[in-house]
Amino acid sequence: MAGGLRAESMHELPLMPMPAHIEQRGSALVIDGAFRIAVCGTRDAILDRVVSRFIARLAAETGLFLPMAAAPGDCSKATLAIECTRRVLPHPSLGDDESYTLEVTAASAQLKAPTSTGVLRGLATIEQLVQAGPSAFAIPAVSIEDRPRFSWRGLMLDAARHWMPVEVVERNLEAMAQVKLNVFHWHLSDDQGFRVESRVFPKLQEKGSDGHYYTQEQIREVIAFAAERGIRVIPEFDIPGHTTSWLVGYPELAAAPGPYSIERNWGVFAPVLDPTRESTFRFLDRLLGEMAGLFPDPYFHIGGDEVLDTQWKANPAIQRFMKAHGLESSGALQSYFNRRVETILTNHGKKMIGWDEILAPDLPKTALIQSWRGQDSLAAAARKGYRGLLSFGYYLDHMRPASYHYANDPLGGGVEALKPEEAARILGGEACMWTEYVSPETVDSRLWPRLAAIAERLWSPASVNGAASMYARLEPVSRKLEFAGVQHRKAQDELLARIAGERPEPALKILASAVEAAGIHERYPAHKYNSLEPLNRLVDAAVAESEWARHLTVDAKTVAANPADDAAAARLREAFALWEGTAAHLEMLGSRSFLAAETVPVAKTLSQLGTAGGTALDFIQKRESAPPGWAEAQLPLLAAADKLTAEVRVAGGGVVRVLIDALGVASAPSGTATGASARK
Ligand code: ACM
Repeated sequence: MAGGLRAESMHELPLMPMPAHIEQRGSALVIDGAFRIAVCGTRDAILDRVVSRFIARLAAETGLFLPMAAAPGDCSKATLAIECTRRVLPHPSLGDDESYTLEVTAASAQLKAPTSTGVLRGLATIEQLVQAGPSAFAIPAVSIEDRPRFSWRGLMLDAARHWMPVEVVERNLEAMAQVKLNVFHWHLSDDQGFRVESRVFPKLQEKGSDGHYYTQEQIREVIAFAAERGIRVIPEFDIPGHTTSWLVGYPELAAAPGPYSIERNWGVFAPVLDPTRESTFRFLDRLLGEMAGLFPDPYFHIGGDEVLDTQWKANPAIQRFMKAHGLESSGALQSYFNRRVETILTNHGKKMIGWDEILAPDLPKTALIQSWRGQDSLAAAARKGYRGLLSFGYYLDHMRPASYHYANDPLGGGVEALKPEEAARILGGEACMWTEYVSPETVDSRLWPRLAAIAERLWSPASVNGAASMYARLEPVSRKLEFAGVQHRKAQDELLARIAGERPEPALKILASAVEAAGIHERYPAHKYNSLEPLNRLVDAAVAESEWARHLTVDAKTVAANPADDAAAARLREAFALWEGTAAHLEMLGSRSFLAAETVPVAKTLSQLGTAGGTALDFIQKRESAPPGWAEAQLPLLAAADKLTAEVRVAGGGVVRVLIDALGVASAPSGTATGASARK
């Protein structure tokens, strides 16, 4: 039966990443109790589990009973035939074939892929295609041929600054698979914590983790979980800087005498390994050897960023060593250290990855450079013969809009001038989630949905680049990701409930939906944080980008262009009325809950925006001009909305700005961009 979907929903299918080639056929395949799934071709237990999970999720989403246990092998009678034509891949590796084709007609669907990873990618596409139509769940009829543009599409998660329990990691791996990401880069040690059990050097986790570390068993579980979703796991042990937590148990590794304690503050700190003692390398050989055995992927990340040389400079033995070995600068000493570490890793069968700072003339060409400093730095590495990844522009902790990250291309900027063989060295990119201002409770809302836009940049053809289309697809994809288990939408309600205390306060939800949270560079100076400070305030409940404000901005533009558009005007009026009511409610709440007190001035701004927005809308709809001076008098209010209060901005200001501009007064541009590139 065709027609399960409304015609208008056929235009912008809620797919992210968008496939390389897609054609729509205008009908749809209905999913009902008669829907039968079969797996043919190459088949094994891994693939069966992949398909079982898919069926379970489809059943959960549709509420239909779909026979779960081992889908039959006869594809001829199936509604959905899944065929792996060549190989089941037990472990994902760099450069695997992830391609697939999907043919859906009103009668049946066929997913074909040369590898099990391709099957996974195709099943993720099908899950996104499932929609509730007027009469049934259905999959629109499409013909898709899909393959990734880049082979390395990752997320780095910092489990050191804030501990990230296994369930948080796994639910995000599940969501990563939904948007076809294939690398999980796990930042496992930093000044604030060493997060893996070492059996060789147990004081690392015993003294350096506050008890928050992954056992080796848990690491193996996560690696297996990721592998079944076509995701490689790359560990990062950041050396020689960012190592305070190591030195609590092993102060003899340091370039200055201890004792050391776990760092509680955020920033870049002096403790650093001593690269002039052979005992340091014997330690690293044993530790990295142990970790090389635990993490099967051939790539291994050694960090290498932000090394302060104060301890090196203050240590006469280190200075003597440098003179004796002709090491003229601290950079040369770090590069000597990196070469030694590279040899250790090679002996353990690993290829080294590091941040930009490891790039030095004598770095072996097998090393891979991850650029957090910019496309120019990445291009410079590629010209010298190194392979690289882009992370600059993909820092999700900066709390920038999805459109900003979406426009950031691994082959953009300085990379454009590269020769084809140089450009081919750029393998892709990784989003970064540093967790100074991110807890297990808020991490999902800092990752999603913006990470899906980055996933599209790394998978889809470069020509798929329209921000409006991206946003139109991002919202349904974001909702669907919660079926996969991430909690980026519901977590806000829980945080707000805690701020509200004993009674729910709807005005708080209205406020949180109309504001946007500051990123790391703005929170750092705004308030003295450390790792023990709870992340339980309005700013933590707020997200990077307000969906509501974005929709209302579109409505405001619509009304500005066409004052007779009553539907858009009605949505604006409804919002403005809700905004106006927030101040009175939050003043009452602020006297009841200390967590809510700081929301009062924010709510006052939002309330005033509601009033101003309503008045501006009246003028526009009556086609009257505003009285002289009225629009100018609103400008301080717009400025207040743009200014950080309680570490949030009132995104609703942008909506009212459009209306005021439509009255013929150009307001000052909104000043939300931070432009900073460093993470600290
Ligand atoms: C970094 O952001 N320091 C890699």
